[in-house]
Amino acid sequence: MNDGFVAVVLAAGKGTRMKSAVPKVLHPICGQPMLHYPLEAARLAGFKQLKVVIGHQAEQVSETFTAGDITWIKQSDQLGTGHALMCAADSLRGYSGALLLLCGDVPLIQPETLKRLQEYHSRQQAAVTVLTAQMPNPTGYGRIIRDGEQILQIVEERDADEQQRQVTEINTGTYLFDATFVLSALKGLNKNNSQREYYLTDVVAAAVAAGEKTRALCVDDPTEVMGINDRCQLAEAEVLMRWKINADLMFGGVSMPDPTTVYIDDGVEIGVDTTLQPNVHLHGKTTIGKNCIIETGVVIVDSQIADGVHLKAGSAIEEAQIGPDCKVGPMAHLRPGTVLTGNNKIGNFVEMKKSVLGEKSQASHLTYIGDSEVGKNVNFGCGTITCNYDGVNKHKTTVEDDVFVGSDCQFVAPVTIGRNSLIAAGSTITKDVPADSLALSRTEQKNIAGWRLRKQQKTNK
Ligand code: UD1
Ligand code: CA
Repeated sequence: MNDGFVAVVLAAGKGTRMKSAVPKVLHPICGQPMLHYPLEAARLAGFKQLKVVIGHQAEQVSETFTAGDITWIKQSDQLGTGHALMCAADSLRGYSGALLLLCGDVPLIQPETLKRLQEYHSRQQAAVTVLTAQMPNPTGYGRIIRDGEQILQIVEERDADEQQRQVTEINTGTYLFDATFVLSALKGLNKNNSQREYYLTDVVAAAVAAGEKTRALCVDDPTEVMGINDRCQLAEAEVLMRWKINADLMFGGVSMPDPTTVYIDDGVEIGVDTTLQPNVHLHGKTTIGKNCIIETGVVIVDSQIADGVHLKAGSAIEEAQIGPDCKVGPMAHLRPGTVLTGNNKIGNFVEMKKSVLGEKSQASHLTYIGDSEVGKNVNFGCGTITCNYDGVNKHKTTVEDDVFVGSDCQFVAPVTIGRNSLIAAGSTITKDVPADSLALSRTEQKNIAGWRLRKQQKTNK
């Protein structure tokens, strides 16, 4: 039923109070730029065409969002919210349906609320329906002046008299308009106000003057419509958003003994019966399977973790894929391009990069594996190092199935270890090793009998 409905999002303002070189609507909240959220809420409420008004650092904003449903509209001078919508008028020519207007700096707005607003608006057949909120402290917001259901006008704080300032019902800056009405009403706006701006809010009084219906829908929870103007409000929004993300996951079957310390980006997916201990950070395009245990201090970025994986304390994982039933850490570092196929064990102080480990292969202690292809059932002893970099180029190490590597071995790449070989502890491997062999490259041990005793006797004299 909403097919083709249009939403306009205002995002041209400078955001002076952020004190930032980054445009306000690009400041991140739970891993997404602020503007992502109102856009997504509009989409989920069924608005198929999104028109975003940008001005300040416009290119930087438009380059951040690549979705095909967005049309960018340039407002070169920010002459007020009414002027912002005027800039979109050309691209709305001929459109006569319901027009949703949102602010780019109100990220907590919920799709359900937008749906309710739209339903109420169409049921009431209003020209303008304003989303309002009861604010215990309404300072700074436009006040809703009503006559019963009809709103007579919206008065900005700076233009309000003493009595109007007492009103606690405020304008959230979110509206549903009859497009035909609002596009014609915009032509009548003027700048006769304290800020010398074209106020979009003036279309309410214009509707009343034209004998049209104006309505308000009040949100239940005023935090949903909080606007972000400074970094304290940004942090407040982040806390609320984080709680919502965590609560949704917990309702979906994920355990978090202390969700207040778990930081999960919007869009991360986690399977049922997975437990996230305190101080876990999950960022970017990360997915985690069922029945996993993610211990304290684990940081995961853009990685896919399969079912039954146990990530132990303090491990850092970036752009890696971890197969089923792996155990990793504590204090392991899996860097981009790491692939653990399944049933692997990666122990403490092991670093991996751009390397694939076949099933059941393991490196339990103090090891570096880089640019390597490792088969199944390979055991790396404590202190294995792939010497993959010669100062200019990176080289590959290949280790075939069932190889056993003793402790403290180096593989000077490029080098290939044939299947089922054994590398003796302390070896530096510079040549390929054929299958089923023993490779040993350490100087033979020499014992000099009585040497220590003679030395001690000499010193004591
Ligand atoms: C506006 C409303 C006020 C409401 C409040 C809610 C008006 C006149 N007032 O006030 O009633 O209570 O929002 O937060 O509309 N913008 C542009 N171009 C412009 C000016 C603003 O795109 O020329 C954008 C801003 O980037 C922002 C939004 O419009 O996303 C709101 O602008 P802002 O200046 O913050 O309006 P307020 O003074 O807060
Ligand atoms: Ca504002």
